[in-house]
Amino acid sequence: MANQDDTFKKVIAHAKEYGYIFQSSEIYDGLSAVYDYGQNGAELKKNIRDYWWKSMVQMHQNIVGIDAAIFMHPTTWKASGHVDAFNDPLIDNKDSKKRYRADVLVEDYREKIQQKIDKDITKAKKRFGDAFNENEFVTTNPNVLRRQKQIDEITVELTRVQEENDLEGFKQLIVDLEIVCPVSGSKNWTDVRQFNLMFGTKLGASADSAMDLYLRPETAQGIFVNFLNVQKTGRMKIPFGIAQTGKAFRNEIVARQFIFRMREFEQMEMQFFVKPGEELKWYEYWKETRLKWHMSLGMGEENYRFHDHDKLAHYANAAADIEFNFPFGFKELEGIHSRTDFDLKAHEEYSGKKLKFFDPQLNESYVPYVVETSIGLDRMFLAVFSKSLQEETLDDGSTRTVLKLPNILAPIKVAVFPLVKKDGLPDIAQQIIDDLKWEHTVLYDEKDAVGKRYRRQDAAGTPFCITVDHETLENQTVTLRERDSMKQKRVKIVDLPSILSEELSIKKWLN
Ligand code: GAP
Repeated sequence: MANQDDTFKKVIAHAKEYGYIFQSSEIYDGLSAVYDYGQNGAELKKNIRDYWWKSMVQMHQNIVGIDAAIFMHPTTWKASGHVDAFNDPLIDNKDSKKRYRADVLVEDYREKIQQKIDKDITKAKKRFGDAFNENEFVTTNPNVLRRQKQIDEITVELTRVQEENDLEGFKQLIVDLEIVCPVSGSKNWTDVRQFNLMFGTKLGASADSAMDLYLRPETAQGIFVNFLNVQKTGRMKIPFGIAQTGKAFRNEIVARQFIFRMREFEQMEMQFFVKPGEELKWYEYWKETRLKWHMSLGMGEENYRFHDHDKLAHYANAAADIEFNFPFGFKELEGIHSRTDFDLKAHEEYSGKKLKFFDPQLNESYVPYVVETSIGLDRMFLAVFSKSLQEETLDDGSTRTVLKLPNILAPIKVAVFPLVKKDGLPDIAQQIIDDLKWEHTVLYDEKDAVGKRYRRQDAAGTPFCITVDHETLENQTVTLRERDSMKQKRVKIVDLPSILSEELSIKKWLN
């Protein structure tokens, strides 16, 4: 079995080879943690965005979408707390000169202990077979108990140093755990410092009149400042939501792991405005609804889990992540946060404008509470792409590389091939394309043997291939081949649009 590193390297190489993701400005040796999406990547990204937008906006009568600007008045970020508190604790290793997030070093250390527990469980499972009782094992085995105690102690101390912003305590925790630098192997650490993640820029031409701005670190604030505009013009009644997708920017200290942690990335966020006191009910509703959305893509229930936050942000009264099993383990994919009335109240205070909702039933005005769902589009891309990339051994012993993207998200839905480049077959293939392209992204390929063309489309993630052959000339039928099962069936050309529309309908997938 390939190890995690090898699997991840394959994912990155495949993304480049098939036109999904390139390093930004590659001809100049790239820019750290910034990536470009190629011809297939742009389509996949758009399809994920559409799938999210339709499920949130089109499928909910009480959710509308907006598109706010990236630049916002600088006071926005003072009010939201980002100027004062959007920091990561960083620490440098004096020997390797590498910089790390102090919390990530501790979390990785804790995760390694967890992996040891998981290994013990797997071993015991093998040893005891059917008689194995996992619950009994984890509550009695001395090794597991000792390790679990260590994990719990680390969690308590990590939460404390973060909540109290105790930077000396943070360093002490790293020293006490004897964490070493993964590069130099040494424990020669600097003190822990706070580092603000926002990118600054300037608006205006002359130096003295220029205004300091930030590139937005989250799209959510564009929704908060437009809360009343949308509520009034859309005549929205609570509970209602505002959705948005768009770029966000963070000067990440540790920007590794390909498109998992980028400096320029895209978010898909929705703020759901509710009556105070009802926020926890809606928080549970959105946790469940968002998990259902992920499940609809069929990438395996076992690859998702909830992680409740140990440390709540100052504005939240509940928060959880949906974690996904990435090639490097379970990590955050989406956050669901009950943000109370913190943001709207802060904007009221800083702007001097009222941001209240008049509730006709109660005959009173209040600042709504907010439940937020926030997912990184690029991170969702990585989840889908990495899980879909598979090496299969076929019945005849040969292997194939196949990108089993959920069909609804695939960049190219159908590839059409003439069996040979003559006898009028290319013309028929072209007619089929002209008929299908109104509804679907379609590609033409006439190079190499058909088997090789199938393999090419398997690796590119195309769910359907259509082959036009000499029988087509006689009875207007073609071969329709399905990527995942590799099954082929003979179908009439006139039936192609309805067969494909049925397979690729959003109703079928989202239902
Ligand atoms: N408005 C709330 C918010 O921004 P967050 O947990 O900081 O919350 C939400 O970010 C989501 O955005 C994350 O779950 C992740 O999917 C994505 N995200 C955050 N930082 C990212 C980065 N540097 N690169 C890629 N995606 C990122």
